[in-house]
Amino acid sequence: MISKPTDKNSGQPAVRRVAEGRERQAPAPEVKNSAFARDVLAGLSAPQKRLPSKYFYDKRGDAIFQSIMNMPEYYLTRSEYEILDMHKESLQQLFQNGSGRFNLIEFGAGDGFKTKILLKHFTRAGVDFKYLPIDISENVLQILTNDLKQSIPGLQVEGICNDYFTALSQLRQTADRRNVVLFLGSNIGNFSEKEAMDFLGQLAEGLNPHDLILVGFDLKKDPEQILAAYNDAAGITRAFNLNLLRRINEELGANFNLQQWKHYPLYEPDSGEARSYLMSCVQQEVHISSLEKTFSFRAWEPVHVEISRKYDLDTIRRYASKSGFEVKENFFDCRHYFTDSLWEKI
Ligand code: AVI
Repeated sequence: MISKPTDKNSGQPAVRRVAEGRERQAPAPEVKNSAFARDVLAGLSAPQKRLPSKYFYDKRGDAIFQSIMNMPEYYLTRSEYEILDMHKESLQQLFQNGSGRFNLIEFGAGDGFKTKILLKHFTRAGVDFKYLPIDISENVLQILTNDLKQSIPGLQVEGICNDYFTALSQLRQTADRRNVVLFLGSNIGNFSEKEAMDFLGQLAEGLNPHDLILVGFDLKKDPEQILAAYNDAAGITRAFNLNLLRRINEELGANFNLQQWKHYPLYEPDSGEARSYLMSCVQQEVHISSLEKTFSFRAWEPVHVEISRKYDLDTIRRYASKSGFEVKENFFDCRHYFTDSLWEKI
């Protein structure tokens, strides 16, 4: 993801053993008050039920997402890999702005699969830069930095374990070089328009004039091609989405029966929104012991779980100018399926 914006497994048991040796579904306060529990409560209590997609990414979800990126239908990762590979030389020149040094900051670096193309190229070319992946998971950073130190000798890498914007404000205060922020993988597409604008506005505030960001946007294309990426033949995306219910079962002590839920993706070409729902196949009740609450689902009631927005170039330009940036250049893969858009802070 994401690594993506994540809220990792708290590791807390969902039920606790109580007095007199009886096991009762008594919620531990730290579970009941967790952000996960609060978001599940709010989402399932809403008139149109929803669950936030950021909770897809527990340990099992991370592994399923790795499989998604390798699926034949999921063109996004391959397209962005191609962009970085084809345009690494131009990116080097634009990041350096002559021959200057820079911080290469990455939001949600994950395993660094795509970023390694740039890191290897810049290191080989003797560019003066420091790579600063930011993640809220110490573990993700440890694995990534160890791997990079081994595979790219000479690379200056320093993982920053914090939320994106706190880390950025620290870097800004000490900045004696240009900052270049990578936000790849079309992670922006998992935000609503308002969330995306808030995120980009906050990002602009954390940067100095002339700093750069490189943002990955999946582009509008044949709707069937888009839909297939979220409805693969092998059922991997289905497993990814259903994993959210399994996670609620395990962490919040719920009794979702996964057999009674269907993964239903759709694509709306006007808005560019690919949306995924979990549909309740029957009328049913589900108890979540940590919330001490039972939720009713009608037969074929949808629970909205994810939006993966697709963009056109006008929308990308509008996002940039509304959030305090100017588009310097859009980089494309050969099929124009995806763009990495380079913006400069005004
Ligand atoms: C992480 N994110 C950009 C992926 C996407 O395409 O929206 C998550 C995903 N969901 C289903 N498949 C992939």
